[in-house]
Amino acid sequence: MNAPLTRAQIYEESENVGRNPSANATIGDVIAARYDRRDFLKGGLGVAAIAATVSPLAILAASQAQADIPSRFKFTEIEAGVDANHHVAEGYDADVLIRWGDPVLPGAPPFDPLKQSTAAQKRQFGYNNDYLGYIPMPGAKNPSRHGLLVVNHEYTNEELMFPGLGRQDRKEVGFAGMTKELVDIEMAAHGGSVLEIVRERAQWRVMSGSKFARRIHADTPMEISGPAAGHPRLQTTADPTGHKVFGMVNNCAGGVTPWGTWLTCEENFHGYFSGKLPDAHPEARNYKRYGVPGNAFAWGKWHERFDVSKEPHEANRFGWVVEIDPFDSAPMPIKRTALGRNKHEGAAGLINKDGRYVIYMGDDERFDYVYRFVSRDKVNRTNRRANRDLLDHGTLSVARYDADGSVDWLPLICGEGPLTAAKGFNEQADVLIETRRAADLLGATKMDRPEDVEANPKTNNVYVILTFNDRRKPEQVDAANPRANSRFGHIIEMTPPDGDHAAIRFTWNILLKCGDPSIAAVGAKFSPDTTRNGWFGMPDNLAVDNEGRLWIATDGNSASKTGRADGIWGVETEGPLRGTSKHFFRVPVGAEMCGPYFTPDDETLFVAVQHPGEADEDDPKAEPATFEKPATRWPDFKPNMPPRPSIIAITRKGGGKIAS
Ligand code: FEO
Ligand code: CA
Ligand code: CA
Repeated sequence: MNAPLTRAQIYEESENVGRNPSANATIGDVIAARYDRRDFLKGGLGVAAIAATVSPLAILAASQAQADIPSRFKFTEIEAGVDANHHVAEGYDADVLIRWGDPVLPGAPPFDPLKQSTAAQKRQFGYNNDYLGYIPMPGAKNPSRHGLLVVNHEYTNEELMFPGLGRQDRKEVGFAGMTKELVDIEMAAHGGSVLEIVRERAQWRVMSGSKFARRIHADTPMEISGPAAGHPRLQTTADPTGHKVFGMVNNCAGGVTPWGTWLTCEENFHGYFSGKLPDAHPEARNYKRYGVPGNAFAWGKWHERFDVSKEPHEANRFGWVVEIDPFDSAPMPIKRTALGRNKHEGAAGLINKDGRYVIYMGDDERFDYVYRFVSRDKVNRTNRRANRDLLDHGTLSVARYDADGSVDWLPLICGEGPLTAAKGFNEQADVLIETRRAADLLGATKMDRPEDVEANPKTNNVYVILTFNDRRKPEQVDAANPRANSRFGHIIEMTPPDGDHAAIRFTWNILLKCGDPSIAAVGAKFSPDTTRNGWFGMPDNLAVDNEGRLWIATDGNSASKTGRADGIWGVETEGPLRGTSKHFFRVPVGAEMCGPYFTPDDETLFVAVQHPGEADEDDPKAEPATFEKPATRWPDFKPNMPPRPSIIAITRKGGGKIAS
């Protein structure tokens, strides 16, 4: 009998295949000096960091001054911990807005976990809600009380969704019990949802029968656009044009554009593919770099396009950023190839001061890269339809972080530098299809799993969330990834010169090194004002509220790893309290915190709770979680109801802005 594996462990195995093989620079031991000097100059991270260089009296004066500085986050911190339920700061409501299986489209049957069907799931809210975005309804009386909520459904937990499956077996691709019927249900539970929502008095609700309501899933027809569209490497038996594809998968984080579209990003697409590609196949090198086939789902058993031996180009049609117009379902969702192909975390952007659109992106795997896209054309601020093709033209670049505190954006352009025919890059389509290999050749900096990357429009600083990298060896440490065996992640702050997000060189420094600051060996750095509830590990997503305050969501905390559940923390970025973090919300056991997003009035914070009820995979004594025995039955707590991924609306009791 083989040991059962969790999905995360399956991904780790495929990462062994796909792991970044390039010899890109690791810089070494200049870190400590740089980190401390910059923090000191910024007036920042506090006593411990500057103790070596400043007199004790000066430290005392500084810490006394600090005690009088009011926090920008005005709420009473919650207790860190793990239990079956969610928790929010006192004085706030955290209400479930919608759960897996709730109706989205007319005719959706009531959710019955024992009578699931593909037809029902295509009309019901999908599984594992990750990114969410709120887009005010044009012409609404109050734009913060009526809008569209766009939600990613990243992936499925079959063991928690379906009875009798137990845990995944190492010998099987996907779960042994995954019949075609069950595979088709889970394909319908992937993708995304568009919901029209309204807040009446205090409460939010989903408007039933809305003309905007939409379910997107793994069979939804989509268009491929941009420089790689139509390329022979994107052509398949079902689509000899290379312009049409069915579905999007593993949509993790995303973004909302100023013209009101939703960017949703395909992350671990490799897991949906199985089968064997011959070593001599022209795509073999490409697929190896991405870990294809990842063998995490049984889709290839029932649908030939997910078997690389039968349809060797299908995997080139996944791993893209998808743009969807939630106000108009007539145009198909569009995979924008100009933004590159990788395991995209998110695609948060802003209008640069020259009017062009700039998108920051992380490629979420150990030793992969941070990217930026700058559009060729300016955003049309008055006619949204004029931006329809904006994301098809522009420059994709990858980041190289240097020890002197500069970060250079290296453009991925066919014919420039090493990106030539001799290296297999005959045209820009090749560069985009094999974005990772192109970035390897340019000498980009290998990061500790880049997740969300997002600018604070109030300060123009850009935050890069690095979740962890437990495979970084001491000799692989560099200035921007300063810890070997980094188990808890860190956050980098980048500053563009004169607020120009299209500039080729920014500066950078480290805002936080995560983990328990009271354990010296962890090497964490928060400000000393951070309480024992205030620190966190494994940062993943971020939101910036309308006052310019930074909020972090985490993925990977647990009782065994950090003694706390995932959740939301507010982090000070300016002034003497910089680096102070405060705990606002936490999820039930087994869940990951996703999607933080504020309404324009800052009165509602929407968050997404995905995979509640999973077992603690870091605890060897934890019982495997299954449909029959989940770690929690949140949020219904009914004996026959499995745990359900859900969206939560957090509002202040009696009204008012969050944390003000
Ligand atoms: Fe889907 Fe990078 O988390
Ligand atoms: Ca994520
Ligand atoms: Ca994650």
